[in-house]
Amino acid sequence: MALTDFDLVLFGGGGDLSMRKLIPALYARHRAGDLPATAQIICVGRQALSDAEFIDALNQNAKPNINEKAFKQEAWDAFCNSVRYVSLDATDASSYQPLIDCLRNDPGLTRVFYLAMPPTLFAKICHNLNERGLATENSRVVLEKPLGRDLASAKQINLEVGQVFKESQIFRIDHYLGKEAVQNLLALRFGNVLFEPLWRREWISDVQITIAEELGVGNRMGYYETSGALRDMLQNHLLQLLCITAMEPPLSVTPDAVRDEKLKVLHSLKPFTPTTLARNVVRGQYRAGHVEGKPVPAYRAENSANPDSTTETFVAVKAEIDTWRWAGVPFYLRTGKRMADQLAEIVVRFKSIPHSIFAQSTSSFQPNCLVIRLQPDDGLQLNLMAKTPGDGMRLKPVELELDFAETFKTPRMDAYERLLLDVLRGHLTLFMRADELEAAWEWVEPILRHWEQEGNEPIPYTSGSWGPAAASALIGRDGLQWREEALPE
Ligand code: BG6
Repeated sequence: MALTDFDLVLFGGGGDLSMRKLIPALYARHRAGDLPATAQIICVGRQALSDAEFIDALNQNAKPNINEKAFKQEAWDAFCNSVRYVSLDATDASSYQPLIDCLRNDPGLTRVFYLAMPPTLFAKICHNLNERGLATENSRVVLEKPLGRDLASAKQINLEVGQVFKESQIFRIDHYLGKEAVQNLLALRFGNVLFEPLWRREWISDVQITIAEELGVGNRMGYYETSGALRDMLQNHLLQLLCITAMEPPLSVTPDAVRDEKLKVLHSLKPFTPTTLARNVVRGQYRAGHVEGKPVPAYRAENSANPDSTTETFVAVKAEIDTWRWAGVPFYLRTGKRMADQLAEIVVRFKSIPHSIFAQSTSSFQPNCLVIRLQPDDGLQLNLMAKTPGDGMRLKPVELELDFAETFKTPRMDAYERLLLDVLRGHLTLFMRADELEAAWEWVEPILRHWEQEGNEPIPYTSGSWGPAAASALIGRDGLQWREEALPE
């Protein structure tokens, strides 16, 4: 579907997210011919720069993030022609005149305000846009995570942004929902008859969802120190993956049909009690170690402003969903920085066979397992038992692999490319609704409060490992192992 002409205003246009993700994603869509020739990308920042100076900054900071194969100087120059730079103080409505001068007043035009800014500024910017008459009927606002620090601040943001924009105009980004493999999970679950009958407590033993990163916190220390893994990854990305895995079949893929089902999952997450909190949540922080053979420093050593920091860089949680479909099936979620590998995956482990008709005992059979891989390459793996060739009846685990890049041979779209297109088209399915956001905060809030009250320190783990031993113990208590730890070396 062709896009209508638009003015896209990027608050924080010169910032890290814009340079790393948003500008490269917009360039990619420009190169693919998706953006109307007259569209404007208006980057907003405090620094006083001319358009030409800002393009220099894009050349230095955004261009290196574009895949070399996808880069064509001519296309980049044409793209840069659609970029304007506006300097203003986002917190001061009286400084918005340069933005007003830049925006076009055609009512047929889509107008998008993308707030790649700290969440403490969301409400203020929305009120300022309103005050200056910029938040029109056909405007949309995009809110980047983190959306608040806790339930109360998330509610406040929803309330205040909602005073300016209708819910149908608000796009709350969780870029994990834009990943190819997440959408493929929807296709797999609801485009095939095979899985749905098995997708329940009778056949599934447990689900593991891991987002592991080799990278440390890098130059985002200022933000990360006030956030930590729970707010940065668990409250949003991991819970969204859990929702897509566990939700009931929605009536359709329309925004509310999907979001209603995800909300039901969030509402049916078993709340933590002080006992389950102590048993089912592990919090860690990386110390020095080796990642990919190179020595890396401890989080505290990188954190010159707070060398005694207790911010967690790892979190693992055992979640339970109180529904007929999922009662008794543990969902183990974990994420960490400076881990042994860079990967994101959802592992659905099926139950063991009830009885072996072969000479081998049932314990030598590996349970079937479906791995939905989001990163590094998106794909699917189904583990089955098969007979080894030759005489005799010996069974052995084998893997059915589906590599999406290999299968479809079409260029991959980055999550931000897809989500930006959806914003410009007005498609809300892959964005969080206000009630979803609040339900997610409601579930994680007791963890935050528990950590605050206990004042306990995160458990150190060596960089380049799979996190603290307590995370293995968390799943080990149920007689299980994290998939990577269970795999042969
Ligand atoms: C972001 C977090 O939302 O997701 C980062 O703020 C994290 O800390 C990133 O590194 C991971 O995203 P991806 O797509 O690289 O897995």
